[in-house]
Amino acid sequence: MRELIEQLASKRQLEKKDYIRLLEQLNEEDEQYLRELAKQKAIEYYGKDVYVRGLIEYTNFCKNDCYYCGIRKSNSNAMRYRLTKEEILACCKEGYELGFRTFVLQGGEDGFFTDDKIEDIIWAIKKEYSDCALTLSIGERSYEAYKRFYDAGADRYLLRHETADELHYEKLHPSNLSLRTRKECLYQLKEIGYQVGCGFMVGSPFQTIENLAKDLVFIKELSPHMVGIGPFISHKDTPFKDYENGLVSLTLNLIAIIRLMLPNILIPATTALGTLDKMGREKGILAGANVLMPNLSPVSVRKKYMLYDNKICTGDEAAQCRQCLNQRIERIGYHIVTERGDCKAL
Ligand code: SAM
Ligand code: FES
Repeated sequence: MRELIEQLASKRQLEKKDYIRLLEQLNEEDEQYLRELAKQKAIEYYGKDVYVRGLIEYTNFCKNDCYYCGIRKSNSNAMRYRLTKEEILACCKEGYELGFRTFVLQGGEDGFFTDDKIEDIIWAIKKEYSDCALTLSIGERSYEAYKRFYDAGADRYLLRHETADELHYEKLHPSNLSLRTRKECLYQLKEIGYQVGCGFMVGSPFQTIENLAKDLVFIKELSPHMVGIGPFISHKDTPFKDYENGLVSLTLNLIAIIRLMLPNILIPATTALGTLDKMGREKGILAGANVLMPNLSPVSVRKKYMLYDNKICTGDEAAQCRQCLNQRIERIGYHIVTERGDCKAL
């Protein structure tokens, strides 16, 4: 396996069959080796700097019904909320004072937020915080909308592809959603000029090793600036409530593989990773991740943006979260930096 890992590190890619072999046959020693190489690769590009993104979960209304997601349309137990433009700006203000230089607007696909409204919010944020990057994570919209948002000042866009296998995609989503559209959106976003992020859940129901290998091949082909992966975690009010959670160890191995494939990109150690393992985010950084995305949403709505059960950090004020993360990251010998944190050149 060492040979294969070294081949991945030097060629920055493998054939699909070799990704399968790698994922199937890694023993504990190989895993440590893989993660160590990935960690060194991240240090080569980013030193021991960790970038933070202030996540503003501005709406949990969603017209979609993804089977895994706690805020899916059919979950009548979800208490719905929307933040006003003023509330969103107040989150940014607090975040700015805490040293955040990237804000991420994330939400369900909420028709209330028309293209006009989103554009207006982007203008307002960028007018006030021109030194900050703005990331959108608001799902599938038209090419025209993506272009308008970009022209209004949005810099980055996160849209996880969820799985690069069509049949698997169909098992995770109702029939009105398709992998083709998802991929089209990603290519459009890239063409417009966004820094683009794709990604997937590790251990989502019905996922096979071959599916994961396809994810890796697709990621290499898209060549995004960011890749967000985290373990699937079941939510009690969804059709997938009885499915097992994803594995932390597999998630860490995939972070490491992706770091070796795309050494200069931005990879978050996700909240889902921190939810399944108290030290999950630290382990993510030590396996090649270099981004954290703490929550800036008002505490009053945090528990309502419950994508999966037992999500962490839903009770803490932004300042507390920031302080806690600082300490955690310092403890592993890394440091959080106050920068926009753009993707470095290869
Ligand atoms: N609506 C936007 C979109 O579709 O991209 C952004 C919000 S969506 C809730 C953000 C991400 O949460 C999804 O891409 C999915 O990968 C992740 N997610 C949803 N349910 C999850 C679960 N049960 N476990 C882990 N991650 C989940
Ligand atoms: Fe829409 Fe999850 S189903 S955000």
